[in-house]
This record gives sequence, C-alpha cells and structure tokens, in this order.
Amino acid sequence: MPPILPSNLLSRRAGPRLCNRSAALLIIGLSWGLSQWLVASQAQMLPIQSALWLQAALAALLSLCLAQPWWWWLINSSFLPSVHFALAQHWPASVFLLALLLLGLVFGAIFLTRVPFYPSQPAVWSLVETMVPDNKSWSVLDMGSGIGGFCLHLARRRPLCRVLGIEWAWLPWLLSHLRARHRGSAGRFVRGDYRQHSLAGHDLVFAYLSPAFMPALWQKACREMKPGAWLVSCEFAVPGQPALALAGSGVGGIPPVYAWRMGQPASVVSDSTLA
Ligand SMILES: C[S@@+](CC[C@H](N)C(=O)[O-])C[C@H]1O[C@@H](n2cnc3c(N)ncnc32)[C@H](O)[C@@H]1O
Repeated sequence: MPPILPSNLLSRRAGPRLCNRSAALLIIGLSWGLSQWLVASQAQMLPIQSALWLQAALAALLSLCLAQPWWWWLINSSFLPSVHFALAQHWPASVFLLALLLLGLVFGAIFLTRVPFYPSQPAVWSLVETMVPDNKSWSVLDMGSGIGGFCLHLARRRPLCRVLGIEWAWLPWLLSHLRARHRGSAGRFVRGDYRQHSLAGHDLVFAYLSPAFMPALWQKACREMKPGAWLVSCEFAVPGQPALALAGSGVGGIPPVYAWRMGQPASVVSDSTLA
C-alpha cells in the first residue's frame, strides 16, 4: 500500500487549469480571428500560407507557455492548417461522413455521458497497483476502460486478481479486447454502460471519468460498494467529499489520484487500516 494522504495536502492545480481554459479560449479566439483573416485574404489582404503559419506558431507558443503536453501543441497548431488542407482537396462529402463515424466509434455517446476517451498514464497505473495486495484475489473494475491500459497493466502485475473493464465506445473496447487476446491477458473487457453495472462485488473500483459524473458516481458507490472496498478516481474529486490521495500523485505531471474507503470517513483511515 502506498503512503496515502489527506487530499488537501496535494499540490493544488487550480491555477494551471484555469490557465488552460483561458489559453483554450485565447487559441479559439485567435483561430477564429485568423480564419476571418483567411477569408479576407481572398481579397489579397494576406497570403493564405502566411496566415496559416502565423496561427500555427501562435498556438504552439501558447501551448509552450502553458506547459501543455506535446500532443496539445500538435493539435492546437495543426488545426487550422488541417482545415485549410482538407478544404483545398475538394474531397467528397463521404470522406467527412466517414471521419464522423470513426469519431463516433471512438468517442461513443459522449454527448450523453459527458465522459470523453482520454487514456490515463502508466504512472497512475503503477500508483494504483500498489493499493492492490499481490497475495489476494481482489476483484478490480475499471469504469470506462478505454483501450484497456490500466486493466492490462494490473492483470499482468497482480495475476491473482480478477480485472474487468467496461467500455461504452466500440472501437476502444474492440482494441482492448484484441490487446488482451494478443497478450494472453486474464483481464476481461465488456462493452456496455458502467451505469448499469453493479459495483457490489468489487474490492477496488477505478474511475477516470469527468467532473460531470462524479456526484452520480459517489451516490452509486455509496449504494452499491461493500464496506472496506476502495473507490479510486484519477484526477477528479467528488465535490464535498473529503478524500485521501496517493502520495506521488498530483506532482510532476501525474494527476492527483483520489481514494475513498467505503464506509469509513477519510479522517479515520490511517496507515494501519489500509491493507
Ligand atoms: C477518460 S477515459 C479513461 C480510460 C481508461 N479508464 C484509462 O484510464 O485509460 C473514460 C472512458 O470512459 C468511457 N465511457 C464514458 N461513459 C461510459 C459509460 N457510460 N459506460 C462505459 N464507458 C464509458 C469513454 O468512452 C472513455 O473511454
């Protein structure tokens, strides 16, 4: 079991998040402004290539200032050039329809669940792994298992455990299923809705969802999870519920990992009661 702390001892990340939101707005604003400029460029105000380069450079610069991960630079700076490139190809409308379908297969019913696909980091998996005893046959559930990284890791590191992932979106589910078969992993993946799955039999439930679902998740966990079982959430806390947090999370680019032991207030869970 890793050292576990009251979560208010974790470094606060509200500042950077706020910054990220402002940066996103700024980038959107700049992109919109420049797209208007692009339209005007048809009237020879500005060569289109220059405007695209300018937008890409500004977006990359803002990503850099905000210490965003490298792939955000890539997304932010390539967005407008990609739109320009796609329009310039005069592709048939079916290409865009296909892209939309593909996105639907990856992101599922995000407009209903408000939980996007976004894989957690191996550093998080290693921290959560240390909560799971290697000499007991725990049942572990990943609610919304994406492409299965957490489950596959845990099934490999804790062979006695029964590890189950539930995923709504077809393509990530299929990938996780194929990855498990390819690796001969004991991890199991089911395609479905975690809201319909009972949490009763699980010793640890891992969730990396979104702030939108946390209050409902907490209600579900209180109703269904057995006393002593762990609810673990990557990045998102439950509003108004004091949590513990895994030491080593919330620093160095690793998101905070919150933990609640069902049936016990965070204040009475001490190191001696963790195993
Ligand atoms: C942030 S990702 C986390 C993926 C994975 N747990 C990980 O740590 O890498 C959340 C996942 O939950 C899935 N999801 C969202 N709502 C769901 C639902 N109601 N039932 C099952 N999966 C859902 C999304 O498709 C997405 O793959």
